[in-house]
Amino acid sequence: MKSPVQDTGQRRAGGRDRERERGREKKSTHQGWTDHHAKDSAEHIVVLCLSCAPRLLAAAKPVLGAQTNPGARIATAAAVIATATATVGLRIGALKRRATGEEAPPTQQSARPRPDPRGIQKMASLKDKLITPVTQPATKPNNKVTVVGVGQVGMACAISVLEKGLCDELALVDVLEDKLKGEMMDLQHGSLFLKTHKIIAGKDYAVTANSKVVVVTAGVRQQEGESRLDLVQRNVNVFKFIIPQVVKHSPDCIILVVSNPVDILTYVTWKLSGLPKHRVIGSGCNLDSARFRFLMAEKLGVHPTSCHGWILGEHGDSSVAVWSGVNVAGVSLQQLNPDMGTDQDPEGWKQVHKEVVDSAYEVIKLKGYTNWAIGLSVADLLETIFGNLCRVHPVSTMVKGMYGIENEVFLSLPCVLGSVGLTSVINQKLKDDEVAQLQKSATTLWNVQKDIKDL
Ligand SMILES: NC(=O)c1ccc[n+]([C@@H]2O[C@H](COP(=O)([O-])OP(=O)(O)OC[C@H]3O[C@@H](n4cnc5c(N)ncnc54)[C@H](O)[C@@H]3O)[C@@H](O)[C@H]2O)c1
Repeated sequence: MKSPVQDTGQRRAGGRDRERERGREKKSTHQGWTDHHAKDSAEHIVVLCLSCAPRLLAAAKPVLGAQTNPGARIATAAAVIATATATVGLRIGALKRRATGEEAPPTQQSARPRPDPRGIQKMASLKDKLITPVTQPATKPNNKVTVVGVGQVGMACAISVLEKGLCDELALVDVLEDKLKGEMMDLQHGSLFLKTHKIIAGKDYAVTANSKVVVVTAGVRQQEGESRLDLVQRNVNVFKFIIPQVVKHSPDCIILVVSNPVDILTYVTWKLSGLPKHRVIGSGCNLDSARFRFLMAEKLGVHPTSCHGWILGEHGDSSVAVWSGVNVAGVSLQQLNPDMGTDQDPEGWKQVHKEVVDSAYEVIKLKGYTNWAIGLSVADLLETIFGNLCRVHPVSTMVKGMYGIENEVFLSLPCVLGSVGLTSVINQKLKDDEVAQLQKSATTLWNVQKDIKDL
């Protein structure tokens, strides 16, 4: 049988090892001095702590040495001893309570005990002292947005959504780890100016869990002069990886597809996700219509919100300008100018639509990509969804059975959006030539879609 002294010596050696470990964890000398006895019995602790006195004095020496005034030296020494004694007292109390099974007194510090893998009760942290918990905070977000792809478009979407204060949690996903971390940190550093509590990022789609809306902007972007349709198979392959992951972690989400060619990739997303069609939406002609209304506003000197006009069909080269519906304050512009949108129009309104179609190419030529307008338009859609506003937006939806379209294609029509997704489509009274153009868009898209492999 070991004598108490032998026992004590061995424990002291073990205590030194633990103390070295604690030193690596940058804990204070004083805490280490008391903690290393935590497994000892209350009877031993006073003896053991006396054996630690030289170390305590060594730790206090620099503090004492800094005091030149003898009175101050005595005061400092007294403070060190008082602190040590109080801590030992606490330890003994805790050990005695552990032995008798008695509960600790309900102090603020003990309101939130911090579990320790070694079974040691730690001193209360500053946070424990500052905060008295009442109940657990929410474990799931209410309005979480995920942006997949932190390129130019993804980050423009992210900042626009943050600026509007639409979400309580934002998750970013990309394959480029450094870029992803950099973007996350940069946004986090702006938290003071935002109303989004949590901004997270990761390559692993676990960070996207419980998203209400997932905005997909990942993929390869158009090169100068490259058509959106040329991008198809490259981006389909990217989506085959992304979409199943998104659905796995947020099975109830609404997916908003932004990557191009957006109408085809919305169809691809619908197929890959297995989600109902009202929860798979393409940003579609929301941006084209915004561009049209801006150009119309420039021409008329009226703010774009008061200039009404719809660009429908494909987001891209075969989009349809619905001239019959263009109006300001309900006044039909086509009634004022019956040639509006035709080649005979002396005012050249057809050129406005051409500028809409060309504007993406023009901006890409000038700055390499487009991002701000699409980011703002995406945030506008999310505002409608999160606010359940039931506003009407020209977004891409499954149009089979509408306007004589027979194939499963996604095209932009005026759609009502709300918190459950895309709830209805407005049946616009289109002229025969407008319907014919829509059908032509549908055929163009279907001809590409039918050749997509492995859906
Ligand atoms: N719908 C619209 O109105 C509209 C407007 C502008 C741009 N876009 C489209 O948005 C897309 C993005 O454009 P961009 O300028 O941001 O491009 P970008 O090259 O700047 O960014 C694309 C991002 O996607 C990431 N990515 C690639 N593969 C990925 C994967 N498997 N998982 C996660 N992330 C992945 C890349 O790392 C990159 O960060 C393009 O397809 C572009 O054509 C659409």
